[in-house]
Amino acid sequence: MAKGLLFDLDGVIVDTAGYHYIAWKKLANEIGIQFDEEFNQSLKGISRIESLERILVHGNKQDSFTHEDKQKLAETKNSYYLELLNNITPNDILPGVLHIIECAKKENIPCAIASASQNAPAIVKKLGIADYFKAIVDPKTLKKGKPDPEIFLKAAELIHVPPHMCIGFEDAIAGIQSLKKAGIYAIGVIAEGPLPEADLQVHSLTEIDMNIILK
Ligand code: BG6
Ligand code: MG
Repeated sequence: MAKGLLFDLDGVIVDTAGYHYIAWKKLANEIGIQFDEEFNQSLKGISRIESLERILVHGNKQDSFTHEDKQKLAETKNSYYLELLNNITPNDILPGVLHIIECAKKENIPCAIASASQNAPAIVKKLGIADYFKAIVDPKTLKKGKPDPEIFLKAAELIHVPPHMCIGFEDAIAGIQSLKKAGIYAIGVIAEGPLPEADLQVHSLTEIDMNIILK
């Protein structure tokens, strides 16, 4: 039985993964870099600045920008992303999520958010579900991002549950790897390609049987 639930945010709780893609594509086009959905898979779960570095390498422009330029580019991408976020409402919570967090609340199972996004607290608030989460990891406090296990170990620590007694929900390959390295049962939410390293793969969180998870 799970004693704690750890959630990625983008692509698991809300479909903001598509907004990240649109915002990165807009920025990349402005600096003459093209990329497709397949390359975008490698950005999922990856921090803002590391995503930018990967895009620059992809476009063979890694040496074209100073540190300050890169900070500005990352800020510009975030401004595009924030514009897109203006549209989100509680209706954008992905199917199955509310059922899981409501069941967890009834059973006193603490939930935490383990997202690389610095926008996570604002998004969770906008979705009206902040009260369901005992903790949101601040990615700025981490030494390493996903696929390192640090973020999920931190999330488990914040809810005071040993990692092996937690279940994690992820849509990114890097996130599944992070969970597995942390010794946490990983449920992969498939958007495009499969997530073979996950312990269980679902296409939607509506497929999760809470009787099995909580009992
Ligand atoms: C992750 C997304 O959740 O957060 C990545 O999967 C994103 O695509 C990362 O780059 C950082 O997000 P933000 O909101 O801090 O730019
Ligand atoms: Mg995600």
